[in-house]
Amino acid sequence: MTPRKRSTSSSAKPAAKSARGRTVQPQGEFTLPETVTPALPSVAAFADLDMPAALLKTLAAQGVTEPFPIQAATLPNSLAGRDILGRGRTGSGKTLAFGLALLARTAGHRSEPKAPLALVLVPTRELAQQVTDALTPYATAVNLRLTTVVGGLSLTKQANALRRGAEVLVATPGRLKDLIERGDCDLGQVRITVLDEADQMADMGFMPQVTALLKQVEPGGQRMLFSATLDKNIDRLVRMFLTDPVVHSVDPSAGAVTTMEHHVLYIQDETDKKAVTARIAARDGRVIMFLDTKRSVDRLVKRLLASGVRAAGLHGGRSQPQRNRTLEQFKNGQVTALVATNVAARGIHVDDLDLVVNVDPPTDHKDYLHRGGRTARAGESGSVVTLVLPEQKREMSRLMTFAGIRPRTAAVKSSDEELVRVTGAREPSGVPVVIEVPAPTPPSGARTRSRGARSGAARSGRTGQGSGQGGRSGQSQGGARGAGQPQGARAQGGGARRGRPQSGGRRSTPA
Ligand SMILES: Nc1ncnc2c1ncn2[C@@H]1O[C@H](COP(=O)(O)OP(=O)(O)OP(=O)(O)O)[C@@H](O)[C@H]1O
Ligand SMILES: [Mg+2]
Repeated sequence: MTPRKRSTSSSAKPAAKSARGRTVQPQGEFTLPETVTPALPSVAAFADLDMPAALLKTLAAQGVTEPFPIQAATLPNSLAGRDILGRGRTGSGKTLAFGLALLARTAGHRSEPKAPLALVLVPTRELAQQVTDALTPYATAVNLRLTTVVGGLSLTKQANALRRGAEVLVATPGRLKDLIERGDCDLGQVRITVLDEADQMADMGFMPQVTALLKQVEPGGQRMLFSATLDKNIDRLVRMFLTDPVVHSVDPSAGAVTTMEHHVLYIQDETDKKAVTARIAARDGRVIMFLDTKRSVDRLVKRLLASGVRAAGLHGGRSQPQRNRTLEQFKNGQVTALVATNVAARGIHVDDLDLVVNVDPPTDHKDYLHRGGRTARAGESGSVVTLVLPEQKREMSRLMTFAGIRPRTAAVKSSDEELVRVTGAREPSGVPVVIEVPAPTPPSGARTRSRGARSGAARSGRTGQGSGQGGRSGQSQGGARGAGQPQGARAQGGGARRGRPQSGGRRSTPA
């Protein structure tokens, strides 16, 4: 495929509104290209869009009543086949923004074996599964077969699914490359390509694979790049693969999520940091805690379990069935403290999550924005708390300036009332717990089918125990039933029972 024409010039960037309305200008932002050929105007309602009736019906059935701003602005154009460069804050509905266009424009077509017609590339396996879950009801409504290919799960099953034929493919780059090399997939008929988390896909680690894949899709097809943060990184992708894109960027940065509170807590030393972390993790309610390394994740999980917190770790060193199980258990309330590396920083959506804690401050402002973006999604409110040791103070304030955020700051000790006020911290029970590993599930194809029917599984409180667990026992979190009282009434061990109360219905407030 030949490099494509790029639309040029700069666009004025509005200043970001930081937590609770203080306005600061984010720095180091990429100057997005301007839309050259004028964009079609935004719509007020999904019904104003040129979409199959079955999709409109499914939106209503899913409780998605009004388009969020990024959907209202991009869908008229993406449905008309325009290339899109879309930046919208975390939790603003980018998945449906690209997903509905991709499905509407693919509906009515049938793919040949191994030759999908539409492709969504994402950086992590968890995100691939989530995009699959989010789009499946819509794909089913318009009779499109959607399949997912990610590393860490059976390659044969994925090859078989492709052989049976799938119009829509959601993939992580590495596994897709493997399948292509084995002759199990051919991208030559892909007419619509989406890069979700586009800036991460343009990072050094992904870029060579991503460009190699994009060069294989049908020349002249439609391309869409979306992320909450688009920086210089994507310049090359934009130049090579987008033609006269409609550029949509209402928000200058993900820091603009106005329902998000940012707190920096200064901690005096490592010892108190441990106590602070354990108390926050023991709160009545869920929390994601981000750490830098797999090792420190495992260590913290061990400590938390020993002190009575229903914690589990998510990082790239664990098997995919373990990773899937952990995320599922966090979503259904069996696990209340998810301890993760950046593998969980992007795209992951967990309903009603109101606290994210950076136990290790992120090294990069984009990481800060994506990690924090796991809360305060789709109009909900939430807090991001970063624990900062004296020697990290300067670097952290630099990062915040870069992100365009002016956080609330306080020096706290583990026993301080301020810590309780901000995070709901409380003393862990001290009674050790183990998180139950669910019973093995039937192997063949259970994963796709069991999750495929999701119409907001987390919302409905369905636990999805069967999905992709692989039935391993004896994992680091133990194979026995919980030995102690869960922290908070929501967390229950016990197989496929319902976990926690879920919020009623969808939100209608845009983020
Ligand atoms: N129009 C809508 N009305 C109500 N809820 C919506 C609407 N669009 C999306 N949502 C919900 O909003 C939540 C966040 O959407 P989504 O995951 O697409 O955000 P995102 O912009 O991709 O965020 P991130 O940058 O973190 O990946 C999801 O639960 C989704 O179902
Ligand atoms: Mg997303």
